[in-house]
Amino acid sequence: MKDCEVIAVANQKGGVGKTTTVFNLGVALAKEGKRVLLIDGDPQGNLTTYMGFDSPDDLKVTLSTIMLNEINNDDSNIKESVLHHKENIDLIPSDLELSSLEFSLVNAMCRESTMKKSLCHLKREYDYILIDCQPSLGILTINALAFANRVIIPTQGHYFSAKGMTELIKTIKRINRKINSDLIIDGVLFTMIDNRTNLSKELKSDLITNYGSKIHFYNSQIPMAIKTAESTAYAKSIFEYDKNSKVAIAYTSLAKEILEDERRRTKKETAIVR
Ligand SMILES: Nc1ncnc2c1ncn2[C@@H]1O[C@H](COP(=O)(O)OP(=O)(O)OP(=O)(O)O)[C@@H](O)[C@H]1O
Ligand SMILES: [Mg+2]
Repeated sequence: MKDCEVIAVANQKGGVGKTTTVFNLGVALAKEGKRVLLIDGDPQGNLTTYMGFDSPDDLKVTLSTIMLNEINNDDSNIKESVLHHKENIDLIPSDLELSSLEFSLVNAMCRESTMKKSLCHLKREYDYILIDCQPSLGILTINALAFANRVIIPTQGHYFSAKGMTELIKTIKRINRKINSDLIIDGVLFTMIDNRTNLSKELKSDLITNYGSKIHFYNSQIPMAIKTAESTAYAKSIFEYDKNSKVAIAYTSLAKEILEDERRRTKKETAIVR
């Protein structure tokens, strides 16, 4: 059976569409028949709220409980923490408690690999695990990058920061060298794109010229659409809120692109083995 892909969705810049991408790409992959688990790796708990899990009952066992048990060598029943969403995806939720875990991690043994150690056996049960990272390159994001084998970097077309991108790539390369040799950048995803403005088009082509030889830019791009913000406010995926919207179509296209890239890679690997 094919290995599970663990994808961290990361960018230390805030508000670039990480959480929106994790939820909607997750639903889009499930619609393509994949078994998908989402992990809320951000103490803000936005993914958990966005998916409609905000009652105290939903949050009895969270990512922080599981990681704390790992630090203390206590057993945890991970299954208890997994919430099932009606669009055929699962979630390990988070809340603010995750921020106190950051302090516990500082002195923990193997502090970078606590998430991986506590969750890696779940890889048997899913085709895709997507991790929503917090907007910083702190220890929780490092844990996500240590567990993942791929990274998606959402970036907001208009507010792209070359400095921020360089810093993020440096961190990913460092983790790749020191902690996790499997980690690669799957691609940069342009979000909230307004294709009518020239600025956006110029920026896109500049970026591809400057970075295109080193990093993959997805062909699929996520347009700016108010319906997306509305879907967040109503705690619905864009597919449930308006399945015909251009953002739903864009996330479907991204899912298909990721699956197609993977098929191509598998084919190449099989050919090498032969
Ligand atoms: N394509 C889009 N068009 C319009 N609004 C969008 C789009 N994608 C996301 N948004 C809105 O932008 C806001 C920020 O998005 P999101 O929470 O996904 O970003 P984030 O990178 O996870 O933020 P943070 O860094 O705080 O975790 C949300 O209100 C969301 O609804
Ligand atoms: Mg977020």
